[in-house]
Amino acid sequence: MTPDLLEQGAKRVEERMKALAAQAGQTASGGRTAGYSRMKQGDEVDTTHGRILYLENVNVSFDGFKAINNLSLDIAPGELRCIIGPNGAGKTTMMDIITGKTRPDSGTVFFGSTIDLLRYKEPEIAQLGIGRKFQKPTVFEQLSVFENLELALKTNKGVKASMFFKVDSAQGDRLADILHTIHLSDSLNRQAGNLSHGQKQWLEIGMLLMQDPKLLLLDEPVAGMTDEETERTAELFLTLKGKHSLMVVEHDMSFINTISDIVTVLCDGSVLAQGTLAQVQADERVIEVYLGR
Ligand SMILES: Nc1ncnc2c1ncn2[C@@H]1O[C@H](COP(=O)(O)OP(=O)(O)OP(=O)(O)O)[C@@H](O)[C@H]1O
Ligand SMILES: [Mg+2]
Repeated sequence: MTPDLLEQGAKRVEERMKALAAQAGQTASGGRTAGYSRMKQGDEVDTTHGRILYLENVNVSFDGFKAINNLSLDIAPGELRCIIGPNGAGKTTMMDIITGKTRPDSGTVFFGSTIDLLRYKEPEIAQLGIGRKFQKPTVFEQLSVFENLELALKTNKGVKASMFFKVDSAQGDRLADILHTIHLSDSLNRQAGNLSHGQKQWLEIGMLLMQDPKLLLLDEPVAGMTDEETERTAELFLTLKGKHSLMVVEHDMSFINTISDIVTVLCDGSVLAQGTLAQVQADERVIEVYLGR
């Protein structure tokens, strides 16, 4: 699709969203496209120390097996950090710990400099602004693209609030904005089940973006995608960088090469190496355990 068509598609969506909001008796937002950050008034994450995520000496054992072993790692606000490493290195387990799915046996996990994530449950961590994308797409196949995104806005609301929920003008603007970002402006009314694998992945990323996460954790986002979808996903991530902090786990080295600044190599539950992709690719230990000779 040409950028012109995308532009036109986004315009159409925007018109429709404004019409929807007008129907709902909302005031117009003045025509300005909403930034993601306008929408949510969650707890503020204190990043004055230059870190949005901070892990120190984290340990987890499963039946005596040390899946995470004295893991220390931190991420700067707006950073796009890539995580690579062999199967079983602990990459997914690390995300489980950050999102509250798995409790570590010991260690420190902070969101900004004041929020101790180990004191929160999984749904609370999502509400604090940490969004997670699992490998398999989990969109609602029977619903349209629009309805999936609309639903994402309701996710954190109670049952009653959800029943009377309507997309307001600012949310409509943001929805249009996100549709454009995830390349689905022309597929607003398509049933999600009919999208390609890559499009489903983008839709799910869009659903996460609707909740305006400060930190996004993405586990193998391009697995199973075509080369073209992978390229577009790289573009998408590069547009998200800066507005959000991202932690991306991937095995696809050409994808990592396109998007990465700093790459962290995990092995046996701790950091084996860290640096630019070129630096870690030249590291003998990384070649030994992961990249091969
Ligand atoms: N809930 C669990 N119970 C028992 N063992 C687990 C559990 N979760 C993870 N493990 C083990 O911990 C180790 C790390 O697994 P993890 O899934 O984090 O690796 P990974 O780096 O994500 O690997 P991959 O690249 O294959 O996705 C593996 O040996 C795995 O079998
Ligand atoms: Mg994994």
